[in-house]
Amino acid sequence: MSRILIAVGWLVATMCAFSPVAGGQLKKVDAEGHEWWHHAVFYEAYPRSFADSNNDGVGDLNGITSKLDYLEHLGVNAIWITPCFPSPQVDFGYDVSDYENIDPMYGTLADLDRLLAEAKNHNIKIILDFVPNHTSDQHKWFLESKSSRTSPKRDWYIWRDGKGPNQPPNNWTSTFGGSAWKYDPATGQYYYHYFYAEQPDLNWRNPEVVKAMLDTMRFWYKRGVAGFRLDAVDTLFEDPDLKDNPPLPGNDKFGFPNTHEIYNKKLPEVHDIMRAMRKVADEYGAVLLGETWTQNVAQLREYYGERNDELQMPMDLMMTEFKQPSAPVFREHISAVESAGGWPVFVISNHDIVRSYTRWGDGVHNDDIAKTMAAMYLTLRGTSILYYGEEIGMENNDPKSKDDVRDPIGRRGWPLEKGRDGERTPMQWSDAPNAGFTQGTPWLPVGPNFKTHNVATETADPNSILNFYRRILELRREEPALRDGKYVTINPGDSNVFAFVRRLKGEAVLVVLNMSPTSHTVPLDLAKAGFPAAKIHVLAASSPQQATTLSRQVVMAPFSAVIAKVTK
Ligand code: NOJ
Repeated sequence: MSRILIAVGWLVATMCAFSPVAGGQLKKVDAEGHEWWHHAVFYEAYPRSFADSNNDGVGDLNGITSKLDYLEHLGVNAIWITPCFPSPQVDFGYDVSDYENIDPMYGTLADLDRLLAEAKNHNIKIILDFVPNHTSDQHKWFLESKSSRTSPKRDWYIWRDGKGPNQPPNNWTSTFGGSAWKYDPATGQYYYHYFYAEQPDLNWRNPEVVKAMLDTMRFWYKRGVAGFRLDAVDTLFEDPDLKDNPPLPGNDKFGFPNTHEIYNKKLPEVHDIMRAMRKVADEYGAVLLGETWTQNVAQLREYYGERNDELQMPMDLMMTEFKQPSAPVFREHISAVESAGGWPVFVISNHDIVRSYTRWGDGVHNDDIAKTMAAMYLTLRGTSILYYGEEIGMENNDPKSKDDVRDPIGRRGWPLEKGRDGERTPMQWSDAPNAGFTQGTPWLPVGPNFKTHNVATETADPNSILNFYRRILELRREEPALRDGKYVTINPGDSNVFAFVRRLKGEAVLVVLNMSPTSHTVPLDLAKAGFPAAKIHVLAASSPQQATTLSRQVVMAPFSAVIAKVTK
């Protein structure tokens, strides 16, 4: 009898720990039904700039491996490495010339294997960046495609005749400036490139392209890669009739007429490919993150798929466009995210946008603002993606003159568009020369605040931004309410202070964020949140002066954050 009970108990436990997925596979979930990535914190490492192991001035995979202790201690669960594949580096790796190898500048396949193995020992997963929209113009597929109109690979890219002499096929423009069509005199046709001319768009209507790209994903999954961040998914398909995009008033930063990009972006066919990629990911229990720029939460919702069969983690990039900390703006956005369903994925910085420290800083309270915004997006329900250097308050270091610019769009669009060098400067490890990133000449100059804002200095300072990040990530691990708690707003009419609780059964975590430059006394009536006689004990505060026990109110310093445990 007892054996039967044990067997039944085992069966029930096993059923709770695994759930069926497409293709009849089983995958691991925790007792609450969550997969590993649901509560994870991802760390975006830009390999050129993270850590340079061979002192050639450019970061590399061995550099990342050498910092695994740091990343584990910080508390991250996965590293997303932006493209490290062979590439002429016109777009710093987003122009891939071989999808199944590592650029010698970053190391070798063996280095990646070692990184995978050592990361596993640190309980950290590795996510690579997959660039499906385009290859490099030096990829053998494109060289073959370009070789003649009858090449078997001709249709792997988008080739068309011009409208007339010196006239591209239509009015589509590249997001990196100028016409999206480049004429090839040898074969007398134009090819399409949504990004640089050195990044020709693949033709995803060709089944051979689909197969080759899905096989590439399998190649990496088999090596132990836990998933991909998918680059530029919106631009995978174009209208086959090449209809002109409707004109809009004004010119873009490169001086070309603005258009409404309805015929070369967000076409419905994108979702067929997302489903195909997801099917392959499910074969390996892998996760797909998407570079999904959207204007609202409803648009973002579409990338999960009607049957949750597309991306598990489309990124919410909308917060990166909010101009300043603002309680009503962030509260409204989070409410929309919460009511939309889907697993939220929050991002405040990446390698294409001005760093959050600079973007949201007011020049007076920058460190406090950095802590306040961290306390917001790292305590919400969902997964968070942290951009390297954000945890130490790295700021943008934009080029001072056109001659200093490395990113081609910065040279083309100067001075309206300065390019993205500013947010890609070397990681600040210490106050040593070159911030301890390299003993060679760094490929970009280090940021101006490296003497005060670096890993070594901040590790030693209990009130640093870095130690505040560490504490919050620790709380994410320790407090069940921060993982699974329901999000309930407090004082929804407050225009300065954004406050909410994450409630789970009889307890909750309270988060209070003063997003204004003045101090405020905030009433803490938690009855509506289910805690009429709440006991409130502070777990973390951005200001060292913060009292540790709270009752009916909390006094919030300018731009400050308090995270507290609430019990009945
Ligand atoms: C988005 C990437 O994040 C960006 O860095 C790149 O230039 C474009 N896609 C083109 O691949």
